[in-house]
Amino acid sequence: MIGVLASGEGTNLQALLDAGLPVVAVASNRADAGALERARDADVTTGVFELDDYPDRPTRDAAMAVWLTTRGVKLVVLAGYMHLLTEPFLDAFAGRIVNVHPSLLPAFPGAHAVEEQLAAGVTESGATVHLVDEGIDSGPVLAQERVPVLAGDDVESLHERIKAVEHRLLPEVVRELCAR
Ligand code: GRF
Repeated sequence: MIGVLASGEGTNLQALLDAGLPVVAVASNRADAGALERARDADVTTGVFELDDYPDRPTRDAAMAVWLTTRGVKLVVLAGYMHLLTEPFLDAFAGRIVNVHPSLLPAFPGAHAVEEQLAAGVTESGATVHLVDEGIDSGPVLAQERVPVLAGDDVESLHERIKAVEHRLLPEVVRELCAR
């Protein structure tokens, strides 16, 4: 059973749902995340874990881990989750957290990967699915696919093209992990 953490629009969550994968819980650090709306539309339980409601990040992360565990979650997918996870969460799901990122990691980690790739003038970008550790977009790569940067690309057009690849790659990798 899969738990998804998302902070934004939730198109990668949608790809998991559309692929028929067993997503049983979706949590966000933002009450206004579009991903929560998508989860509700799919009748998936949602949880909001905003930092302001907790004394510190580890306490919030511990609560989120308990919430997911009590819902039977065995595998956690970060689908556009914009906070670094702290030890209580990483320990609870050790080796069972995957992330999707819009670059060919280890190149261009971080929250502004698409902007930074365009600024650097790369001709090739990509999508990466990897296991999560305590670092920023570090951890062993599970799958990676190249995406060309086209003349005239801006952040929106390049990110859209990368996301189209993410929406295929992420469900593939998650399905494989579920079968293990
Ligand atoms: C994706 O590009 C993902 O790689 C990155 O954040 C974006 C999330 O998009 N980590 P969405 O919320 O799934 O639409």
